[in-house]
Amino acid sequence: MAAQPNRILFLLSGSISCYKACFAISKLVQAGFEVRTAATPAALQFVGNATLEGLTTKAVFSDLWKAGEAMDHIDLARWADLAVLAPGTANTINRLAAGLADDPVGTLFLAWELQKKPWWIAPAMNTQMFKHPITRASLDKLAGLGVRILPTGTGQLACGETGEGRLLEPEQLVNEILAHFGTKIA
Ligand SMILES: Cc1cc2nc3c(=O)[nH]c(=O)nc-3n(C[C@H](O)[C@H](O)[C@H](O)COP(=O)(O)O)c2cc1C
Repeated sequence: MAAQPNRILFLLSGSISCYKACFAISKLVQAGFEVRTAATPAALQFVGNATLEGLTTKAVFSDLWKAGEAMDHIDLARWADLAVLAPGTANTINRLAAGLADDPVGTLFLAWELQKKPWWIAPAMNTQMFKHPITRASLDKLAGLGVRILPTGTGQLACGETGEGRLLEPEQLVNEILAHFGTKIA
């Protein structure tokens, strides 16, 4: 019997780098992973539902109140083997650290069994936002709870500044996920 494909819950928050996440999602689907997506309302200002649904062939969890999807925040948290928030905005990182659960990403985080399954965050933001003491404290708190905080890239940011805070390049993100599952792209 063929092995069950690994299941990835890919969560997006509202950064200009959401387009890079789409590239990573595409690669993961091509590599044979089952990928489901969840997006904050702000993420959908950057990439459309149709893009995420088209890449994964599955509906995007983006509305807590949508009829027929009321239990997605529990079901998806049970379903996935790995959760990856990429890009992770300053706002969502600070919200997760505070335990706020009034959007799809926040509810999934609180429903996730952190002791049993990995939750990763790839931050993406302006350098000052990344260095802000509140963001640093949130990242430290989340790391202390067992969340894996992936490194950011350094370089030109969308705001025109150069520094820390760029989203990890999608190829690197995909490589981290492949390494985690011990998978190679055929
Ligand atoms: C063009 C544009 C680019 C943005 N890029 C980022 C970003 O890379 N990182 C970030 O933390 N916020 C960024 N923001 C601000 C967030 O979108 C904003 O804080 C939003 O409320 C985040 O919501 P969410 O965390 O619920 O997705 C950007 C805003 C705009 C208008």
